Amino acid sequence: MIIKTSEFVISNTDYKKCPEPDMPEFAFIGRSNVGKSSLINMLVSRKNLAKTSSTPGKTQLINHFLINGSWYLVDLPGYGYARVSQRSRESWGNMVNQYLLNRENLMTVFVLIDSRHSPQSIDLEFVNYLGEKAIPFQIVFTKADKQSERKTLENIDLFKEALYQTWEELPKIHITSSVKRTGREEVLEEIGLIIPYFNSLA
Ligand code: GTP
Ligand code: MG
Repeated sequence: MIIKTSEFVISNTDYKKCPEPDMPEFAFIGRSNVGKSSLINMLVSRKNLAKTSSTPGKTQLINHFLINGSWYLVDLPGYGYARVSQRSRESWGNMVNQYLLNRENLMTVFVLIDSRHSPQSIDLEFVNYLGEKAIPFQIVFTKADKQSERKTLENIDLFKEALYQTWEELPKIHITSSVKRTGREEVLEEIGLIIPYFNSLA
């Protein structure tokens, strides 16, 4: 998949106001600060298309980016940021859940997980939630540049083990680093493989 153009389209708090669902769409989700916005920038080879920050809670809205004039990437706010109030946690839940449950052109959700850590229950719960709701997803481990490959693979193995507690078959798993551009081709190739199925959705 070659990225020729990428442009910001719109930010929303409500899935109903998102662009017409007439093109395939891929969303990036995961804990606050896990690297969602950075991964989007890495995929499209732009520094600041999606806004990033070293402080968690940067992305607050549902952000649509149009790629090659023919499909959407969506940057979502992160979950699990400890310092937000109960109320804004609920509004996150509402906004993102409504989007995930109702967005008809959503082909696959990429769930980002920090490869530095052993399995976190909030990530496992989110993955299991997607399973319950039959929302297709793949897993993307981020920040692989931050530790040894051995450590990354160890954490991934632990995560897989945890998934096997509830899943018979595991989703596709990618290892990425936005700094080193690791995993770029792999994730884009996946998207390229899924896009043609959009026509058989309706
Ligand atoms: P929220 O929008 O707040 O939920 O965060 P996010 O998941 O979009 O994370 P963001 O892309 O803003 O990145 C958070 C921090 O992690 C920034 O300081 C990034 O520079 C850093 N970061 C993201 N990806 C990588 C990576 O692959 N490697 C390294 N070393 N740092 C990364
Ligand atoms: Mg972000």
